Amino acid sequence: MTDVGQEKRQLGVLGLGHVGLPTALGFAELGFHVLGTDSDTAKVEMISKGQAPFFEPEMGELLVKHLASGRFRPTLSLDEAVRGSDILFICVGTPHDAEGAADLSQVESAVRTVAESLNGYKLIVEKSTAPVHTARWIHRTIQRYRASDQEFDIACNPEFLREGTAMHDVLHPDRVVVGVETERARAWLEEIYAPLYCPIVFTDLNTAEIIKHTANAFLSMKISFINMVSDLCEAANADVMDVARGIGLDPRIGPSFLQAGVGYGGFCFPKDLNAFIHVASERGVDFSLLKEVKNVNDARIDRFLRKAQQALWVLKDKRVAVWGLAFKPHTDDIREAPSLKIVKRLLEAGCLLNLYDPRAVPEFQRVFPADGERLRYWSSPEEAVEQAHAILLVTEWPEFAAVDWKRLRARVAVPIVIDGRNCLDPAVLAAAGFEYYGIGRPAPISHPRGS
Ligand code: UDX
Repeated sequence: MTDVGQEKRQLGVLGLGHVGLPTALGFAELGFHVLGTDSDTAKVEMISKGQAPFFEPEMGELLVKHLASGRFRPTLSLDEAVRGSDILFICVGTPHDAEGAADLSQVESAVRTVAESLNGYKLIVEKSTAPVHTARWIHRTIQRYRASDQEFDIACNPEFLREGTAMHDVLHPDRVVVGVETERARAWLEEIYAPLYCPIVFTDLNTAEIIKHTANAFLSMKISFINMVSDLCEAANADVMDVARGIGLDPRIGPSFLQAGVGYGGFCFPKDLNAFIHVASERGVDFSLLKEVKNVNDARIDRFLRKAQQALWVLKDKRVAVWGLAFKPHTDDIREAPSLKIVKRLLEAGCLLNLYDPRAVPEFQRVFPADGERLRYWSSPEEAVEQAHAILLVTEWPEFAAVDWKRLRARVAVPIVIDGRNCLDPAVLAAAGFEYYGIGRPAPISHPRGS
């Protein structure tokens, strides 16, 4: 064991998914030596060749850089990762089961192997999002399965990175939350996060776990709140974008996560909200507020499709261009993406679909393979609108706001745009002759006759 500050700790990252891989590369960028491991052999082999297993801006470049620098070394051997590291970050998946409870089998399995491989003091850090008391179970599991009396500490250091900006978030966090039980764990984590120059919130283990769930639940709540307000704005002929700006400038509210639209998706919010509701109910707390957040979000898809139906009258045999399939821009991740439900429902209604996304098409094709006239993939937003009766914008990739609407007008069959993310300028669309429907925005400015 080295003394604090004397030499850089060796780090191990268990699980190389959307949290683990950016975390490992972030630490490598900060100058640490990092061993990364994952139970998925194909993924580790890909990473070892310098190929990122999913798209994340800047991550591919950092992977190549730190394989070359030798500061990041992927290995298939969890045992090797444990033995070669002082601090182990557990970043394995915590999916939820049918009841909404987190499935912690991957955490348990990783921790048991850690216990069996201990070869000296280790600091074991829970980074995966997991229900309160998971850290306590990790502690108990290590004690149960460790081969010898090796010392260890447990910490909880939840990750707040967002997909699409993961590398930026890892290297420039607004805060780091660290739950610890001992001075040594505190000192070690303080030391490795010192180069980030951000506030570190030290707490106990349970509190750190609750902070992570609370952050995601609160952000989901903001989104459902503004989505409800957007429904009211539609009914009252007001503009939710201006409402969001008008309240967001109040520092007690803040401007972010007030973007009304088709609702939140992704692997974190839906899963973590369910898990938090479940955690609360197990402890006798009926978190009814969060149940409503989920209900409001679930209803967004119906509302969006009703808008499409109202604009098109009959959906059957209408050619609809869907722009954006990823759950948010700058990722190829489609887990829990609103597009999955929207595309399914449009197909059921008999629409002919032209799909486009700059990154997520390969993933989406696994769920919805191309199917002649019924479902086609295109390689540009312009191609996707050919002879379309409507354009449905589902994910706000920046390129959509930059298209030449006047030229698009000549390609579509009927100039209708339903903007599920309020990312287009209604005045520009109106000037180009499009009928524009946003979310919670005043009724369309122009109603040109469709052909
Ligand atoms: C989220 C948290 O932000 C992050 O801190 C945590 O570590 C993981 O979960 P992520 O799911 O990657 O990150 O993306 P985020 O930017 O939070 O967006 C989640 C969803 O909410 C997306 O579907 C997005 O489109 C939607 N959203 C976001 C809105 O609908 N409106 C908004 O105003 C903001």
